[in-house]
Amino acid sequence: MGQRTGQHGAIITAVERYLPDRVLTNHDLEKLVDTSDEWIRERTGVVERHILDGQPTSYMAIKVAERIIAARDLDPAEIDLIIVATATPDMLFPSTACLVQHAVRATRAWAYDLSAACTGFIYALVAGAQFIQTGAHRKVLVIGADKMSAITDFTDRSTCILFGDGAGGVLLEPAQTANAGLLDFELRADGAGAGCLSVPAGGSMMPASHETVDQRLHYVQQDGRSVFKFAVARMAEVCATVLERNGLTGADLKLFVPHQANYRIIQAAAQRLKLPAEKVMVNIDRFANTTAATVPIALSEAFQQERLESGDLVLLAGVGGGYTWGSVLLRWENRSDPGNT
Ligand code: COA
Repeated sequence: MGQRTGQHGAIITAVERYLPDRVLTNHDLEKLVDTSDEWIRERTGVVERHILDGQPTSYMAIKVAERIIAARDLDPAEIDLIIVATATPDMLFPSTACLVQHAVRATRAWAYDLSAACTGFIYALVAGAQFIQTGAHRKVLVIGADKMSAITDFTDRSTCILFGDGAGGVLLEPAQTANAGLLDFELRADGAGAGCLSVPAGGSMMPASHETVDQRLHYVQQDGRSVFKFAVARMAEVCATVLERNGLTGADLKLFVPHQANYRIIQAAAQRLKLPAEKVMVNIDRFANTTAATVPIALSEAFQQERLESGDLVLLAGVGGGYTWGSVLLRWENRSDPGNT
């Protein structure tokens, strides 16, 4: 589906994250709903999550943008495009991306939000890379940010244990060397799953009313078992498709960076790809499911832990509401290497 056809490779030249300070543990949730730390750890892998108080999603996205600008020592006016993947925009409109653009004074950039729930960053990364690969742009900021606590029903034990708040992002630039950066992708959607995972009210189908508030329809509603089954099957499948198309196996990968929805979903994909634990990024224990932010947060931790070297093959994967799902194959290229400054 997505092998590169453009002239220029799109490489990641900076990757950053932001997690809010307040930590909500499983034990804290035991005081809110009928659950236990043991149940949550066993069924999901989550131990604690971070919660943003008194600020919107854009606050975290702006922090990430500022950190990327500082890390790359950029003049914000050099940024051509800002894409924010989010399921929890500050408002229905204007886009959260426009708020980021203004806050960081990216005066030349255009900006838009992308809605693909937990697959948002994967979709946005591929979308942003197209503008680099065609030569239209030289600097594209791609951010995944979600304040899931804003749409989480803390009286519903089947959902409130799953989510957390956070943001992560990357800067995409043209590669100086051949065969670097985003090599291939496979993106999928199936709207037949729309009813299995959604926030039903607040849009044009069910505008906010006293009834929608009383019925708690502004919170995430999901059929957990259906979502779980779908995610287990599809995330592994899409990863296998990308690897097979490129003549690769799990043994060729340096790192697998999957969406962090449930440790058991991650394990299923890792088993299918025959990946040992040390090749799989897992941080769901500390951050839970931050929706569009999980993959860039995990990628930024991998980078900070010096687990990525030039030439390494990295596979990213996501699955979520829509349904949406997808996988991206990258050849990592460190900016500090000759030719990439
Ligand atoms: N604490 C204690 N018990 C709980 C609980 C909680 N927080 N949540 C549900 N239960 C109970 C259920 O009521 C049920 O009880 P019953 O057997 O008496 O009816 C039992 O635990 C099993 O529930 P079930 O829904 O079958 O559990 P599960 O193993 O499927 O795990 C999820 C539930 C939500 C963790 C799991 O389905 C999941 O992770 N789904 C994917 C969700 C997701 O990732 N969504 C984001 C999009 S990517």
